[in-house]
Amino acid sequence: MSASLIEASLELAAERCEDLTPLVYERLFREHPEMEALFWRDTNHAVKGEMLSRVFEAILDFVGERKYASTMIQCEVVTHEGYDVPPDVFRMFFATVAATLKALLAKDWTADMDQAWVKLLADLDYYVIHPDQYETSMAKAR
Ligand code: HEM
Repeated sequence: MSASLIEASLELAAERCEDLTPLVYERLFREHPEMEALFWRDTNHAVKGEMLSRVFEAILDFVGERKYASTMIQCEVVTHEGYDVPPDVFRMFFATVAATLKALLAKDWTADMDQAWVKLLADLDYYVIHPDQYETSMAKAR
């Protein structure tokens, strides 16, 4: 149920806007100006676009079959330390994605969708806070 709400919100957004990249990053840099400096190498905005499309793919997998998304997030938390991106920024970024969708969908953003996104953000954050794959696989097995 929550998966279909997340999927519906992404589908509606895709119908309304061909490329969400400028909307997401404009909001991110407006609300968190310190984030912009992290992307100093990305002068042609290619990394920003690719990163966002991977995030959308990961979210769809995460709410669906979850074949790879939870471990991917754990890996990205570790690799992003090399880009000086600390883990707590991930929560901010995912929340910015949600806020962008909410603004774009406007009156079509439902209370159920909102709840599904709140839960999704918390579930994603679990893997950001726990990047150790051994630890999370043991927790699941328990
Ligand atoms: C699951 C979440 C994320 C995924 C899947 C992801 C994916 C990626 C990928 C694939 C790259 C490398 C692109 C390339 O070199 O071609 C990248 C680079 C980068 N990401 Fe992320 N990312 C995520 C979260 C974040 C967050 C939360 C931030 C901070 C706002 C961030 C900031 C950056 C920066 C600064 C770079 C390097 C840009 C550069 O040096 O040009 N990423 N990301």
